Amino acid sequence: MADGARQAERVLKRYQADGNGCPESVAVVLWGTDNLKSEGSAIAQVLALLGAKPRFDGYGRLCGAELIPLAELGRPRIDVVVTLSGIFRDLMPLQTKLLAEAAWLAASADEPLDMNFVRKHALAECEKHKIDLETAALRVFSNADGAYGSNVGMLIESSAWTDDDELSETFSRRKSFAYGRNGKCASQQALFQGLMENVDFAYQNLDSVELGVTTIDHYFDSLGGIGRAVTRARGGKVAPIYISDQTRGEGKVRSLTEQVALETRTRILNPKWYEGMLRHGYEGVRQIEAHVTNTMGWSATTGQVDAWVYEQITRTYVLDSEMRARMSALNPVASVKMTHRIIEAHQRGFWKPDESMLKALQDAGDELEDRIEGVSAEIAA
Ligand code: BEZ
Ligand code: MG
Repeated sequence: MADGARQAERVLKRYQADGNGCPESVAVVLWGTDNLKSEGSAIAQVLALLGAKPRFDGYGRLCGAELIPLAELGRPRIDVVVTLSGIFRDLMPLQTKLLAEAAWLAASADEPLDMNFVRKHALAECEKHKIDLETAALRVFSNADGAYGSNVGMLIESSAWTDDDELSETFSRRKSFAYGRNGKCASQQALFQGLMENVDFAYQNLDSVELGVTTIDHYFDSLGGIGRAVTRARGGKVAPIYISDQTRGEGKVRSLTEQVALETRTRILNPKWYEGMLRHGYEGVRQIEAHVTNTMGWSATTGQVDAWVYEQITRTYVLDSEMRARMSALNPVASVKMTHRIIEAHQRGFWKPDESMLKALQDAGDELEDRIEGVSAEIAA
């Protein structure tokens, strides 16, 4: 719990260092395996934000939550909208109930509204939607029983979306099933939307050194998805996104822009990394392509990826004819997909190549496509 409180304070400090005051509401993404590895660090962070702690019975078994008195907490209770991965929900039913109980205790505490934002928002939701306090205090959301993921990753992968609202709607439909103190789940889409309007920023812990937020699509599917839902609920006002990197030392909080920049420099633009990938042949090229698609997933969901990222990826992988030929020989399908993805990122307005770079990209895309179709081979014959 002490570590959770420290990590939560670190995230709050970063938000404040970026020119903001005390947030009223924070969206936090919780994953199952990460909480197993970290002995529940992120769960403890959520409890700390709410100003709560676990309650144990006489045998030392976890049996619920209790509030930390405001005088001891020394700041307002911050509202937290938790989105659980389907894996967390399956693995940790007791902890799911614990979080729901903590939110309920905060919402029902007889405390001044300027010191208890959970209660403030819950009472407003009661009024707005004519619901009881038990319902308005629901803060733990996930998929419906038996379902996983937000499907935002699938939309990005297949390019099957035309505007931002499709992404936020898909996310909200999939992830707005509320889990209550009794562990039961019910669709609460209107409440979820209402809560999104209050969210000041969203964050997730990074617990794995092997995987970054651009390595797999699940990070933008969950954290990016909620970022898009919050931005839409706030009428287009972009929600800051943070990554709390727990992989080294005391931990470090980065903005999403900083995290993607770091991963771009240390992975996809780093010869040590990509030469290692290329030694894996077909699968290595697929992984490089996946990084590009995941990077575009972050642009689509948050708009917080710098344009230079796409420009440098283009220079490294597409404009360099030797690299293009190596990649295409190892995995022609992933090579052409990557080039098309970079062009798609431009078409969607995530970066702007100059005319000559755009033409080079289009020519490279045509050349790679021809190679798949065997046209070049025929011409050469
Ligand atoms: C999880 O453990 O909750 C998780 C792991 C990988 C991807 C998504 C979720
Ligand atoms: Mg996938």
